[in-house]
Amino acid sequence: MASWVANTHAAVAMVLLLLMQFGLPARSKPVITDPKCVDYDPFDRCCPPPSPKKIVNFKPPPQSSPLRVRRPAHALGPEEARKYARATALMRALPHNHPWNFFRQSNVHCAYCSRSYFQLGHNYPLEIHGTWHFFTWHRAYLYFYERILGKLINDTSFALPFWNWDDPSGMSIPPIYRDHSSSLFNPTRNPDGLKFISLGGCEGNNTLESLPKQRQCNLQVMHRQFISGFKSSLLFFGGQYRAGDRSLPGGGSIEGSPHGPVHLTVGSDMSALETAAQDPIFFAHHGNIDRLWEIWESTPGKKREIFSDNDFLDASFVFWDENKQVVRIRVRDLIDTRKLGYVYEEVPLRWMNIKTTVEKAGAFVAMDEKEAVRFPVLLSSQVTVNVARKVGKKEEILVVSDIALDGRDYVWFKVYVGRVRGGRVEAGCFIHMQRRANKKIPVVTKLQLDITQFVEDIRADGDDQVVVTLVPKVGGDKVAIGGVSIPVKRAAINMLEGERWRSFKERSVWIFAVEFWTSGGVRETLRALEDARSCGARGVRIGAWGTGDERSAGEGAELVERVDTCRMWSGRDHMSARRKCGLVAFGCGLEAQGASTEAQSAGGCTGRGSRAKGDRDWLHWTQCDRRSVGRS
Ligand code: C2O
Repeated sequence: MASWVANTHAAVAMVLLLLMQFGLPARSKPVITDPKCVDYDPFDRCCPPPSPKKIVNFKPPPQSSPLRVRRPAHALGPEEARKYARATALMRALPHNHPWNFFRQSNVHCAYCSRSYFQLGHNYPLEIHGTWHFFTWHRAYLYFYERILGKLINDTSFALPFWNWDDPSGMSIPPIYRDHSSSLFNPTRNPDGLKFISLGGCEGNNTLESLPKQRQCNLQVMHRQFISGFKSSLLFFGGQYRAGDRSLPGGGSIEGSPHGPVHLTVGSDMSALETAAQDPIFFAHHGNIDRLWEIWESTPGKKREIFSDNDFLDASFVFWDENKQVVRIRVRDLIDTRKLGYVYEEVPLRWMNIKTTVEKAGAFVAMDEKEAVRFPVLLSSQVTVNVARKVGKKEEILVVSDIALDGRDYVWFKVYVGRVRGGRVEAGCFIHMQRRANKKIPVVTKLQLDITQFVEDIRADGDDQVVVTLVPKVGGDKVAIGGVSIPVKRAAINMLEGERWRSFKERSVWIFAVEFWTSGGVRETLRALEDARSCGARGVRIGAWGTGDERSAGEGAELVERVDTCRMWSGRDHMSARRKCGLVAFGCGLEAQGASTEAQSAGGCTGRGSRAKGDRDWLHWTQCDRRSVGRS
């Protein structure tokens, strides 16, 4: 008996050792929609009628059925337009308890963004915005919606129109949506949209004189968001989101803009996620978003391949289909629109080859190092910060991290990248569309922008820093920013590389990977661990927050199994610091356990108080670590 126990122990120890050497086994964790929908908010009864029957797995339509060709809404012929309006009228006329009823259909969007659907096996809501499922989920939604409309008018080739707002001829509400007596009309829209729809910061007075400029500005936004953001899958799609992830990894370039501004400039119903799909123009808007995904995939570039990650491809959602049954569809069924039976009509892309405008140096001046911004900051006025960069990198990603806000608030800020005493360009923006709810919805997320091209445009390629300015447009006083940096490779490796890392290692201190825990979730944390081990770390510690944190003890426990030691932060230290900053979560960098002073000088953080004992000191730590990490 005793030897059996000893052997078992030896075997377990062996396995653990191997795990440490060769990394952690990949556990598959696609987000699966729990079909049980529960209305989160009494104001929003968004859940679809439940189905008495079993959920069936999605089957693609027979390849022999006619291909549906989605056309630009402003170019629809009268017959096509009538057909679409008639189908929508029939949908509106269905009884409320019918799953195809227009409001039940539009509420499907609400259910997927209002905490009504949960991740199967996890006590967390499933959120499709601000994640890599933004394009995929909306594709599925439109797919079923289109087929239901076709069914209602008995037309197997019926296709939804798309709103071609990326072309000057489509930059206002298309005619078919303007007729007050049509089923496609929505009375809550902002009348300005009849003249012009801004794709992000292109507002003007909509006069004959200014419209050409505004349209040109829209084309520039398109170029910026598509060309700069689409070089790698994650920047285009949005951050990785797996089962058990709670904080949002951040939306992709197109989701921020033009997607957000179009919702917001149409206004009212369209401007809040819960009500957006109550305006039929929503489906044309998302038709165009879906079309951009299609274009992105067919644009050459080696990083533009669709993810091969099974956690992405095996994620699944549930929808009522055109045969009146509830269907479970996986992301891998959604990759090819031809297999789904539809295509987009090809129209010219006038934004493909446009030059970035570089603003001359002026109001924006580089900050003196000594007065550098202390993160976290509230964005009540514009924030300018020097950000260290490495000369000669092929791809440069700017990260605005730990963006913390209440999900009910509408927040929009722009990000400029400039050269010290030189010009600047708008590199992108962050947009959070408001949610309706009684209770606060804590959101922590991040924004990532590919600034490689912009650094060239401002001729800062040879500089070791750039000037980043965050300019609040809406709700700046409601959003806190945790930091701005240009990580070298992945953040994880950045923290563990180079001189700093060697000096830590020599002193045999432990690495504390806090940032991954707060911003990246379990998966990122584990990755950081693997990196630490492959660099030869002698031991790895993971910090978990004290009770009351957004990340649960359950998640903590999962990590504890895989690290050498784990420490729970004391509730007092961290919770009170967090409250003071009005933040939902923060934290970054490395902490050397025990020998603060030593670690501090190893990290190049001298002169800022030697120990992280109180709230203020902790913030200094965070600050000083970010800065030195950026420089290494
Ligand atoms: Cu699901 Cu345009 O939002």
